[in-house]
Amino acid sequence: MNSFELNKIAGAVLAGALTVVAINEFANIAVSPTIPETNAYAIDTGAEESTGTAAVAEEQGPSLAVLMASADPAAGEKIFKKCASCHSVEEGGPNKIGPNLYGILNASKGHLDSFSYSSALLEKGGNWDYEALNAFLTKPKDYIKGTKMSFAGIKKDGQRADLIAYLRTLGKTDVPLPTE
Ligand code: HEC
Repeated sequence: MNSFELNKIAGAVLAGALTVVAINEFANIAVSPTIPETNAYAIDTGAEESTGTAAVAEEQGPSLAVLMASADPAAGEKIFKKCASCHSVEEGGPNKIGPNLYGILNASKGHLDSFSYSSALLEKGGNWDYEALNAFLTKPKDYIKGTKMSFAGIKKDGQRADLIAYLRTLGKTDVPLPTE
């Protein structure tokens, strides 16, 4: 094979590639696709249009009072394994990456002087009541932007309730369960 033949082959390949590009361009112009605003086929995303507050309440599931009434502290103790690498729970226990959590229910946010909290947590203020714990443990960084607790959160309402029921057993005072 001499170089002239090689050139012919290269030329043929190039011409072929150009033809493909040209056909593509032409097809685009000829067909000029328009993208419809709505899907041709309805996709069920599970989202329903709400028809007032009753529907909204239903979507949110049972209230915290209802969840806490049937929560199981023993199940919560198992879930607490996710927290135990950073938190001790016994009275006077050491702070680890996070503060000791003895008596945390209804304690003030940043309840230990011996732990160096983020300013975000301290500025949030208020107490760790049921609502606050529930909100924080759902997604810590949503409830307190800038918290240094690196934990994604617990998605399941029932699991959070079990966990809070367990936290409730830690401490001297018996905090009454929440009511509606
Ligand atoms: C990776 C370590 C880590 C894990 C895991 C973790 N935490 Fe924390 N937690 C922290 C840190 C750090 C703080 C202090 C946050 C701040 O100052 O912003 C904290 C703060 C808290 C506070 C506030 C305490 C106070 O004195 O105000 C509570 C309540 C809490 N954690 C509960 C939990 C629970 C329950 C779990 C398990 C579901 C958990 N944490 C998992 C590190 C962790």
